[in-house]
Amino acid sequence: MIFGLGAVALLGAGGYLYATDSPMLSSVGLGGTPKPTGPFVPKKEDYQKVYDAVAEALIENDDYDDGSYAPVVLRLGWHASGTYDKETGTGGSNGATMRFAPEKDHGANAGLHAARDFLEPIKEKFPWISYSDLWTLAAVCAVQEMGGPTIPWRPGRADHDVSFCTPDGRLPDGAKDQKHLRAIFGRMGFNDQEIVALAGAHAVGRCHTDRSGFEGPWTFSPITFTNEYYRLLVEEKWHWRKWNGPAQFQDNTTNSLMMLPTDMSLIKDKNFKPWVEKYAKDQDLFFAHFGDAAMRLFELGVPFTSGEDARIEFKRTE
Ligand SMILES: *[C@@H]1O[C@H](CO)[C@@H](O)[C@H](O)[C@H]1NC(C)=O
Repeated sequence: MIFGLGAVALLGAGGYLYATDSPMLSSVGLGGTPKPTGPFVPKKEDYQKVYDAVAEALIENDDYDDGSYAPVVLRLGWHASGTYDKETGTGGSNGATMRFAPEKDHGANAGLHAARDFLEPIKEKFPWISYSDLWTLAAVCAVQEMGGPTIPWRPGRADHDVSFCTPDGRLPDGAKDQKHLRAIFGRMGFNDQEIVALAGAHAVGRCHTDRSGFEGPWTFSPITFTNEYYRLLVEEKWHWRKWNGPAQFQDNTTNSLMMLPTDMSLIKDKNFKPWVEKYAKDQDLFFAHFGDAAMRLFELGVPFTSGEDARIEFKRTE
């Protein structure tokens, strides 16, 4: 009985396909060559191919910084998105305006040419994807390939010209405090819990004296996505580093790690600190909250024509 119902359903589907295909078949028959079917419309599988190409390039190019472009690719996606202003609806990842001066020369974006150049061969291989979709997709790939949470992602960003560049000063300044963090992330629409969750991206990457002026990594595993950043904030002792560079903290145990004043503000602030403590104890909770906040960050200001059901969860490389 069950088998019988299945067979009827299959026949029905086959009949439908045949009926809708037949006008196209006859036009091929008349003209001799198939008619062009309009612009290429990428499907989920096509975006997975882009993901796989980024992941492969991350593995192949292991001679950058601590052995991976993944942290700087994540920073590109975040700085492209983090210009969003919910009051005016301006900024955000849509547009990929960081390709142009003045935005590419904003102090907060120093060094991000490395990530843009790294992705250029991917753009050449998949010319149908916009830079703005590519940068955010690559950031998702970077997090997942570093062992971080799955970040659902959907396409829909278009590239804009230089007139859409946002003014300087919309991204966080690591030399400042919790008031500054709340102003910057509040402008994007994030609450205290989400601010602390997004800060956990400092588990990966490092600062460079020729870029931000600060120096060093936050954790001992700067190309693996973990909750180590929170554990170090809570458990390690930190002191002001004695050097000629900008004011930053150094760990007492090894003098090889660093925290910025904004990082330390997370354990000074009574509303931020409980979240630092929770994420230090529970990596699964951090991953869940980071995945959700990062998904929304990458979607800020994007005029999607698709619904949330169009989000893709990319398969990781084995
Ligand atoms: C951490 O190191 C600084 C500088 O070496 C020192 O002054 C401070 O007492 C240390 N703190 C702790 C709790 O050991």
